[in-house]
Amino acid sequence: MKVQVCIIGGGPSGLMLSQLLHLQGIDTIVLEKSSRDYVLSRIRAGVLEHGFAELMREAQCGERMDREGEIHHGFYIAHDGKLDRVDLHKYSGGSSVVVYGQTELTRDLYEARDKLGGKVVHNALDVTPHDVASDKPYVTYRTGEEVIRVDCDYIVGADGFHGVSRKSIPQDKLQEFERVYPFGWLGVLSRTKPVSPELIYAKHERGFALCSLRSQVLSRYYVQVPLTDKVEDWSDDAFWEELKRRLPEKVAAELITGPSIEKSIAPLRSFVAEPMRYGRLFLAGDAAHIVPPTGARGLNSAASDIYYLYHGLLDHYKKGDDTGIDGYSQRALARIWKAQRFSWWMTTLLHRFPDRLSYDDKLQDTELAYLFSSEAAQRSLAENYVGLPF
Ligand code: FAD
Ligand code: DHB
Repeated sequence: MKVQVCIIGGGPSGLMLSQLLHLQGIDTIVLEKSSRDYVLSRIRAGVLEHGFAELMREAQCGERMDREGEIHHGFYIAHDGKLDRVDLHKYSGGSSVVVYGQTELTRDLYEARDKLGGKVVHNALDVTPHDVASDKPYVTYRTGEEVIRVDCDYIVGADGFHGVSRKSIPQDKLQEFERVYPFGWLGVLSRTKPVSPELIYAKHERGFALCSLRSQVLSRYYVQVPLTDKVEDWSDDAFWEELKRRLPEKVAAELITGPSIEKSIAPLRSFVAEPMRYGRLFLAGDAAHIVPPTGARGLNSAASDIYYLYHGLLDHYKKGDDTGIDGYSQRALARIWKAQRFSWWMTTLLHRFPDRLSYDDKLQDTELAYLFSSEAAQRSLAENYVGLPF
């Protein structure tokens, strides 16, 4: 089989790129190692920045997001028993974010791919890129006993942090930067009315907590837990009790609890691999970089990679201009590092670090006091949270 662009990974990054390129007449295939049901069962991002929403519309996938997603103009930070609001609209020059689940937008992307007759292969096993440093790269994968070869002009590795693409680049060609945090987030999804119409990020001496939502009947909550905790250790009751302890009394009193419909622990990590290109292989999204989820940047950073790569490939195929693909890594990384900085800052501001000094506690309190006493500081938070320009 021969296509122009072979995309490894059928998460939001891979599907979005394939959809955008297809709409421009560029032939792609998406190779996904899992089943569609499995991909759609992973509960992850919930907050989309304006630029991501625009890209969904450009990909002709924005209809349901615009109908069912919620526009949020602000969020709260709970600390010292009180709630302070960050006015995103006021401090970002009128911008906002969209609350719409990654599961739903991935479903929309799959449906759009189906509608256009896009090639998406599920349960593609042993996906392997070959000869990526040559001008004739190809990818092989296996279904059952059959090994299939896909010849292509370019390979895009959009296969997440644990994927094969980044690992296929020789170690001496890649530099990796990493920080692993000594805690994770225990997340619960429940069919209950959210405790607050806007998100609440809570800093508490027992650890961080987040009250988020997917809709007015579906809530998503998180509490910071040690890495040694296992999901099985946490009954629903224990989760709700711990969440309540970390919220201001008035909020805790209003929390509606119910059975969890999903419960999982996500470790927190910051990671960047540079450069994001090796020969004819481009890395995009979580395959190249990870942020701790605190600032809701992960999926949004993937979107900017896809935007740069899409335009670069478009210029290559339509105008014979390689400036975009040649500058992809540098351009993408400039924005990625800003998302890294912001996610690290918000994580440091709100979490309880096990090895902290009393000096660190004082700085954390001072940072929060400064934030809510300074319009400049709130403007900086707001412009990063709604998303820096692509
Ligand atoms: P993935 O979603 O990881 O997709 C990669 C795909 O490749 C997967 O389907 C995988 O099965 C497939 N794959 C892997 N290996 C192979 C292989 N060898 N061969 C073929 N296919 C393969 N981000 C935000 O912007 N906002 C948020 O609010 C937010 N909240 C989050 C909350 C949590 C708890 C977590 C864990 C993450 C959150 N994120 C958030 C981050 C966001 O979910 C990720 O950044 C996003 O999923 C990245 O998309 P991707 O397509 O690059 O990678
Ligand atoms: C969600 C996750 C985040 O990391 C975040 O900052 C906001 C919301 C969520 O899953 O709803």
